[in-house]
Amino acid sequence: MSHDSAPKPLTSSLGSPLTGTIRVPGDKSISHRSLMFGALAVGRTTVKGLLESEDVLATADAMRAVGATITKLEDGSYTVDGIGLGSLLEPEHVIDFGNAGTGVRLTMGIFGSHNIAATFVGDASLSKRPMGRVLNPLRDMGTNVIARDGDRLPASIRGPEQALPITYRVPMPSAQVKSAVLLAGLNAAGETTVIEPIPTRDHTEKMLKGFGADISVSVNEAGERVIKLQGQPELKPQDIDVPGDPSSAGFPLVAALIVPGSDVVIENVLLNEHRTGLITTLIEMGGDISIVNRRETGGEEVGDLHVKASKLKGITVPADRAPSMIDEYPVLAIAAAFAEGDTFMPGLEELRVKESDRLAAVARGLEANGIPCVETEDTLTVTGGADAIGGGTVVTHLDHRIAMSFLVLGMAAHKPVTVDDGAVIATSFPTFTGLFDGLGAKISANTSEAA
Ligand code: S3P
Repeated sequence: MSHDSAPKPLTSSLGSPLTGTIRVPGDKSISHRSLMFGALAVGRTTVKGLLESEDVLATADAMRAVGATITKLEDGSYTVDGIGLGSLLEPEHVIDFGNAGTGVRLTMGIFGSHNIAATFVGDASLSKRPMGRVLNPLRDMGTNVIARDGDRLPASIRGPEQALPITYRVPMPSAQVKSAVLLAGLNAAGETTVIEPIPTRDHTEKMLKGFGADISVSVNEAGERVIKLQGQPELKPQDIDVPGDPSSAGFPLVAALIVPGSDVVIENVLLNEHRTGLITTLIEMGGDISIVNRRETGGEEVGDLHVKASKLKGITVPADRAPSMIDEYPVLAIAAAFAEGDTFMPGLEELRVKESDRLAAVARGLEANGIPCVETEDTLTVTGGADAIGGGTVVTHLDHRIAMSFLVLGMAAHKPVTVDDGAVIATSFPTFTGLFDGLGAKISANTSEAA
């Protein structure tokens, strides 16, 4: 689980055009929630297409630690035998979430309103990330917390005998915070209200409804989303088919746009409106992307993306689009490096507290590869079209999306690009290198060979 072990450098270099039809692994947000909600339901939930990455498997272990039985079947699908809301067992060991921010924050919400004690740890990246954003509303609900300075991991919590329902206005655009409060509210007696001034991904609301929770969403006079949840429902098991992760699809999407002559189809991608900001932005930049075979599965829209190499132009990305593409800015910065002119990305303050300080990590990585950029506290401007880009080594800071984004850069740059640690890619997209090999990309674990 921990990435404190030996780093594994990877290098990518210009190869042939990328061609083929692929599927990316299941959506990470939906995969985490399928296991969590399955664990809280009474009976057997089945999950097809679960993302089998380190982050999601850590969530499976956490749910097992409170009594759920999670089993992989021969056909690759999973069953989750839930213990039922209110009946969680006290874990007998420390819960190690590795690199997984979503896993730990949502699980703290679930455990925090149960009268059990639990201790959470993570890798060096997760241990730097702020947990106060979920621990503070939990304190309001009656949870006792002991955490390292600045509300960082390791942290121990003990839920109260009876959690109090609260009304909480989410202070930053964060689906994790919204979800942690709602999940804690599940085991509070009465109505929990979450006010969301800036809309973020809505998988928790949609999926809880599917599991039978009494949850409603409205918009108030100020234009804020108001989510009301009635506590202590009996959640009913579901059959879930997890669609392809649009955040993972972002890598082949951008790669196919920037590697000359490419023509790629990415099938079965989740098209939830809170997740499609990158596709919208790349189309505005001139990307030849068509969405075909649009359909609905399990209450979510999915479709196939047909993408061809394109001449891109720089644009200003509206700041209010950030929540719908928050994980995609690193790979957008790579697309911007191949666009004509400047791409200006405002509203990026949340990037500072991701798996790394992503704004700084992207800027340093671009600079190391000769790509002009300007970083401010919450914006990034990338100037595309520089001569002779590539040739640099990028420090990934245990951040999977930094590693994958800069490997995509190497696929189209003039000189190979090395990332100092590719092992961390396993947290969200374990099949990344194999899938890109199949499309014709050149990714190598041996830097001298690739160069
Ligand atoms: C996620 C929410 C986002 C996103 C993360 C997944 C979720 O985090 O970056 O990868 O599944 O709720 P924030 O809520 O911190 O923006």
